[in-house]
Amino acid sequence: MKNITLLLACCCFVASLNFNSVMAAPSKYVNQTAEPTPSAKASSAALSKQRKNDLLHLVKQDCGSCHGMTLKGGLGPALLPADLVNKPEYFLTITILEGRPGTAMPPWKDILSEQEAQWIAEQLLQGLDHEQN
Ligand code: HEC
Repeated sequence: MKNITLLLACCCFVASLNFNSVMAAPSKYVNQTAEPTPSAKASSAALSKQRKNDLLHLVKQDCGSCHGMTLKGGLGPALLPADLVNKPEYFLTITILEGRPGTAMPPWKDILSEQEAQWIAEQLLQGLDHEQN
C-alpha cells in the first residue's frame, strides 16, 4: 500500500513537470519566430573565404553564361542591385535553388546548399564588387 502511494506521488510529480514544459512552450515558439534573421545571418557568415571565392567564380562563369559576365543580362535578366530592388532575398534564394520551371533558369540545389544560395542572393542584392574589395 505504501508503495502505491509513493508511485502515485511520483506520477503526480512527473505529470506536473510535463505540464510546466507544455505551458512554457508557447513563449519559446514566439521568441523563435520573432527573430529568424540573426541565425540566418550567422549561418551565412560561416562560409569559408575559399568557398566564397569559389561561389563568386561560379556566379561569374556559370550564372554569367546566361545573365552576362557582369550580370547586366543576356539570355537571363540582369541581376544587378538596381534590377533586384523590391525582390526579397528569400525569393531570390528559392529561385536559385529551385530554378524557374518553364524558363531557362535551372535549379542549383544539387550544387549549392541553401546557405550558399542565400549568400549569393545577398551578394547580388549588395552588388558583387562590394564583396571583392
Ligand atoms: C541557362 C541559363 C541560366 C543560367 C545558367 C542561370 N540562369 Fe538565372 N535565370 C535565367 C532566366 C532565363 C531567368 C528568368 C526566368 C523568368 O523568366 O522568370 C533567370 C532568373 C534568375 C533570377 C531571378 C531574377 C529576377 O529578377 O527575379 C535569379 C536571382 C537568378 N536567375 C540567379 C541565377 C544564379 C545565381 C545563377 C547561377 C548559380 C543563374 N541564375 C544561372 C537563366 C539562367
